[in-house]
Amino acid sequence: MDKLVINGPTKLKGEVTISGAKNAAVAILPAALLIDGVCKIENLPNISDVRTYCEILEKLGAKIKWFSDNEIEIDARNIDCTQAPLDMTSKFRASYYLLGSLLGRCGTAEVGIPGGCNLGARPIDQHIKAFESLGAKVDVSQGKISAKVKKLIGNSIYMDVVSVGATINAILVSVLAEGTTTIDNAAKEPHIVDVANFLNTMGADIRGAGTDVIKINGVKKLHGDCTYSVVPDQIEAGTFMLAAVASKGDILIKNCIPEHLDCITAKIIEIGGNVEDLGDSIRVSMNKRPNKATIKTLPYPGYPTDLQPQMGVVLSIADGTSIINESIWDSRFQYTCELNKMGAKITDQGKTAVFEGVKNLTGAPVYATDLRAGAALIIAGNIADGETQLYNLQHIDRGYENIEEKFRSLGAKIQRICEPD
Ligand code: EPZ
Repeated sequence: MDKLVINGPTKLKGEVTISGAKNAAVAILPAALLIDGVCKIENLPNISDVRTYCEILEKLGAKIKWFSDNEIEIDARNIDCTQAPLDMTSKFRASYYLLGSLLGRCGTAEVGIPGGCNLGARPIDQHIKAFESLGAKVDVSQGKISAKVKKLIGNSIYMDVVSVGATINAILVSVLAEGTTTIDNAAKEPHIVDVANFLNTMGADIRGAGTDVIKINGVKKLHGDCTYSVVPDQIEAGTFMLAAVASKGDILIKNCIPEHLDCITAKIIEIGGNVEDLGDSIRVSMNKRPNKATIKTLPYPGYPTDLQPQMGVVLSIADGTSIINESIWDSRFQYTCELNKMGAKITDQGKTAVFEGVKNLTGAPVYATDLRAGAALIIAGNIADGETQLYNLQHIDRGYENIEEKFRSLGAKIQRICEPD
């Protein structure tokens, strides 16, 4: 089992360049199945979820050429299979986008019930509602979701909950449908805008992405023959912002969109940090112990759940008692048990956790319980006294490109050790 060995404490200093957004990439790749042609995608993050997605697309008949670790060409002219390999699709959450794109392109789709990070219940009723609104019949049984339709007809969809995945799936299934689809109470995350921009570049007619009403006028065909660059990863940028704060460091975070980070910036300033907006980069520094804070996770533009564990590390060493209320996922405080092994004083009950700030953390063997928990524990290991050994790296590798190299370039003493199982 591979592990990261981190020796702290280190004040992180220097520059880091943000990769393309994981949660945009894992929606843009299946969206490419809607194109009856060839497209080029740049700034793809080199992470295991992207590599798995590319393998799935190839099994469905797409041809993929790799120009570099971050740049591919997808030829989706001959999609000859609509049954995605169940063993691969059930491994990660974003495989549910294959339902929207295969249904849109071929009128039929079969995908394993999506896996992914264990964050508690992860229903897909709103995805199914969107497919059924446009006329599809959906069946969930034997560990898979099957959907079928003779002809997709645009319709109005009201989302009962604000859902990133259901909003994107509703877009995917509507792009080639006959007539107009309206999505009300849509999610507004930057990666939703990015998927819509990608599809519009390829010939779709999607308006209003980034607001809570999205209108899709169905088109006959997506032409391709275009190049698209994935938006910078808001969550990776936020992870390094919080790493700077936790370590009392000074980091220039390059290739990011500061506007996407407004609510993290506001919280960092509230707890005593400094943030400088430099257009396409952001500089974050901290020279004192953080102040306590109260955080509630919310859909964009609220404080993102995907930066909750990283902020949890900062608040674990804050001056005073902080509270985090996690309003999106039922089980996103599993990392707090690991942080407590490092000397933190956190008690969590359901969706609320109380952080009694301690002066410092101490190194310990800990386990990444999910992707963002893993990133948070790297931040914790870097500020802790002594050695931290971090296990379960497969979670981290799903979503962060070259994470240990990036931390090392900022001064962290971090090594990946490969150990036979
Ligand atoms: C996306 O998950 C992200 N994943 C998650 O990132 C992120 O935490 C989440 O959005 C919220 O921002 C991808 O983009 C691949 P949702 P998603 O549908 O789309 C409820 C990470 O670390 N809901 O917006 O699955 C649901 O239970 C990951 O990168 C329904 O009730 O999340 C939750 O409470 C983890 N019915 C809320 O909505 C549905 O049909 C938001 O979930 C769908 C969702």
